[in-house]
Amino acid sequence: MPHKPFKAVIPAAGLGTRFLPATKAMPKEMLPVVDKPAIQYVVEEATGAGIQDVLIIIGRNKNNIANHFDSMPELEAKLREKGDDDKLAKVEHSSDLADIHMVRQGEPKGLGHAVLRARSHVGDHPFAVLLGDDLIDERDPLLTKMMEEYDKRGGATVIALMEVDPAHIHLYGVAAVEATDEEDVVKVTQLVEKPKAEDAPSNLAIIGRYVLGPDVFDILERTQPGKGGEIQLTDALEELATGGGDGGGVYGVVFRGRRYDTGDRVDYIKAIVQLAADRDDLGPALRPWFKEFAQGL
Ligand code: UTP
Repeated sequence: MPHKPFKAVIPAAGLGTRFLPATKAMPKEMLPVVDKPAIQYVVEEATGAGIQDVLIIIGRNKNNIANHFDSMPELEAKLREKGDDDKLAKVEHSSDLADIHMVRQGEPKGLGHAVLRARSHVGDHPFAVLLGDDLIDERDPLLTKMMEEYDKRGGATVIALMEVDPAHIHLYGVAAVEATDEEDVVKVTQLVEKPKAEDAPSNLAIIGRYVLGPDVFDILERTQPGKGGEIQLTDALEELATGGGDGGGVYGVVFRGRRYDTGDRVDYIKAIVQLAADRDDLGPALRPWFKEFAQGL
């Protein structure tokens, strides 16, 4: 029987401490990447993959995110009056993008806890979790492939994996894997949250895209705080990978495209430089300057 349509869940309730003081009064997901907040790229990725129903998990400073996806009648009227159709279209686009809902995570008790807050909205739909500070370049689509795998593997959990340098592996959830009959699709046999390099079962790190069935909620309900005292999504997925839950195990899609972790300052700056340099409206002015600047380093 075909399943119900996918929904999207975007956790954006973390404290963003790596970006203080910018994130003291603003969620890190609202930091601009060129001229759009990071979270708008993520919502666009979900709608681009055909998902219309988007739930954002918000924390303190919730109004910034809610206002961004809401209409702004005064600003729109001013732009209309001035005949500035281009900017008007940009302003209207963010409020017309998707059917956007919000739910509060009272306290940032971890990513697993944030996802659990989506339970009543998601109901018995399958859903994609997209981390609000993790950008996947739209030229390298990933989510569609993950949703196809979910269907193909009979509703199994699908996570996104990326090869990372052993020096950085302790920053990620890491997967032990077995090959499948498909290139760049692996069966996940074990997951470890933020291991030391010498304990890591591979160099395949979990990145911020997950396609899950509603059965994950029962597991999250009983998941105890893990690393850092937080309820970790990785711990719930580890249970699914090792045979818990009703699903058909966990599969990983190995991503080899461009990805930017905008919660990290160096990656955030790289994202802005790369995306601006590639744009038709900004690239021609920026590229010669970048070359000159690099020569002076
Ligand atoms: P991070 O660990 O990158 O977010 O969580 P953080 O804790 O805000 O970052 P730093 O380390 O303090 O700078 C990954 C994603 O999960 C969300 C975050 O908003 C981010 O999108 N998250 C994390 C929640 O929504 N709730 C939480 O309790 C924790």
